[in-house]
Amino acid sequence: MKLDHVVSIKQFSDKALLDELFKSASEIQAMDPSQYPKPLQNRTLATIFYEPSTRTRLSFETAIQNLGANLISTENAGEFSSAIKGESLEDTIMTINAYADGIVIRHPEVGAAKRAAAVSKVPVINAGDGAGEHPTQALLDAYSIYKAKGKIDGLKIGLVGDLLNGRTVHSLMPLLSGFDVEFYLVSPPSLRMPEEYLKVLEEKNIKYTELDNWQDMLGQVDVLYMTRVQKERFANEADYIKVKDDFILTMEQVKQMKSDAIIMHPLPRVNEIDVAVDADPRAYYFEEVRNGLFMRMALLNYVYTSK
Ligand code: NCD
Repeated sequence: MKLDHVVSIKQFSDKALLDELFKSASEIQAMDPSQYPKPLQNRTLATIFYEPSTRTRLSFETAIQNLGANLISTENAGEFSSAIKGESLEDTIMTINAYADGIVIRHPEVGAAKRAAAVSKVPVINAGDGAGEHPTQALLDAYSIYKAKGKIDGLKIGLVGDLLNGRTVHSLMPLLSGFDVEFYLVSPPSLRMPEEYLKVLEEKNIKYTELDNWQDMLGQVDVLYMTRVQKERFANEADYIKVKDDFILTMEQVKQMKSDAIIMHPLPRVNEIDVAVDADPRAYYFEEVRNGLFMRMALLNYVYTSK
């Protein structure tokens, strides 16, 4: 199956495709860097980020160069690209088409990557579109779960935090709902998972429980996926302050968890996970970061080699 663009996690509902990506990421992860495939040799890829990023941008830029391509990059594109002069996203994308064989884009508006893909002749990869989706994070998260637990079927998964605005869970939950999983959705009442995503679970007959506290679920879950309250999506700071510290994971909670559970977080964390948790063997978030590089290499390799 050919992937022209990577815009939504809906493009990954085919289990064979997901299996192939897991396998490829794991093969690349086991390789000596001198053996990395070079499908992007003599090509140029562009990263254009209109929102802050550490991991997504740097891992894509590492992946792009590891696979042999040249890199051109605009960080803080809202300020440093011609967007500030009033250029449309479409014109910017058509311009980058003149230089690059692929575009990795992060943008504050929901649907921006889809708009970019609509005018781009080269692959567009969505690195986060506002509170919409973050499909490549979901791929690396699913790969991380698969690596740690050896399976996805049968797992109980807790998604905690800002389920309203967090784009990582908007991609991860639909992806995992292709498996036989059960969800606990834990958030302040004002930050519940939007209906459109819950509908997908209902259509697929996936069991889920919405909670505004985590007492009873901590001991149940195999995967605890923490998220940051997305300050930048709040209209006023007072509303953010009201909910920002509702779920803080400390060793007190971790002690209630299963001994073989894993704790994940797409990062950055603000204070949702106490640093004392980092030393616990269940803390998996920095390994998750590392897995992300290899999943992004596998994905780019797939986009440029599949027919
Ligand atoms: C996330 C994002 O940008 O959506 N970070 C990431 O890509 N790893 C999560 C967040 O910012 O809270």
